[in-house]
Amino acid sequence: MKFDLKELNETLTGKLIGRDIHYYDETESTNDVAFSLGIAGAPEGTVVLADSQRGGKGRFQRSWHSPPASNIYTSIILRPGIRLSNASQIPILAGVAAAEVLDKYCPGKISLKWPNDVLLNEKKVSGILSLAKFTANHLDFIILGIGINVNMNQGRFSEEIRKTATSLSIETGREISRQDVLISLYENLEKWYKKLLQYGFDRVKERWIKLSSMTGDTVEVNFLGETVRGIVEGIDDSGSLILMVDGNKKVHVSAGDATILK
Ligand code: BTN
Repeated sequence: MKFDLKELNETLTGKLIGRDIHYYDETESTNDVAFSLGIAGAPEGTVVLADSQRGGKGRFQRSWHSPPASNIYTSIILRPGIRLSNASQIPILAGVAAAEVLDKYCPGKISLKWPNDVLLNEKKVSGILSLAKFTANHLDFIILGIGINVNMNQGRFSEEIRKTATSLSIETGREISRQDVLISLYENLEKWYKKLLQYGFDRVKERWIKLSSMTGDTVEVNFLGETVRGIVEGIDDSGSLILMVDGNKKVHVSAGDATILK
């Protein structure tokens, strides 16, 4: 099913996220389009949505397989008046918002893996790639690029990720309305974004810790060829993972790829 843009525009009228929708049947990457819009001064809440991407981007220069008529590929422009050092709170918040929405379709089977992968039955169902634009110490805007595997068949994933990726339709055994998931995503993101601006990061952090089952797990985090191994204690106010290393050293890891060893 195609996105119904008329309904989407009507439903999101008066809301912050989705106030302007830039839709493409196909584009290189919604993140690139959103970044250009951000530079051109697009207001926060502007979203870019595509049915397919030719060059969908994942974290660490990986690609994000983005075939048509199946999934959600969207990028959202936000201009939070927060300190640059707190910019990572925004993708953490997006993970929380996405996880809550997906949990409605597969109750109890969704979890968050730091920093913001959403897992369904321990396989990746959604990923977030954020880009920040800043001048000196000021955060101009942040792009939240969110991909959700909605109606993807197992066979359409590349060989490389077939065992570690999944979609809502694979796990529920039925076709899911991308439109419904998308509207809930924008609405829930807006709810959490407003909470963050009003009350700060504590509520987001608390919710993230509940939704991620990582606390107490032994994990290995790789970043630029370096590996840290430790037991997860939580996340700090800038969204960094807190690890207890060697039983007595607290290490805050701000970026990387985490593997749960249990
Ligand atoms: C990850 O590696 O987990 C992040 C994947 C992010 C994919 C989304 S799809 C919409 C947006 N546009 C892109 O090119 N990437 C993000």
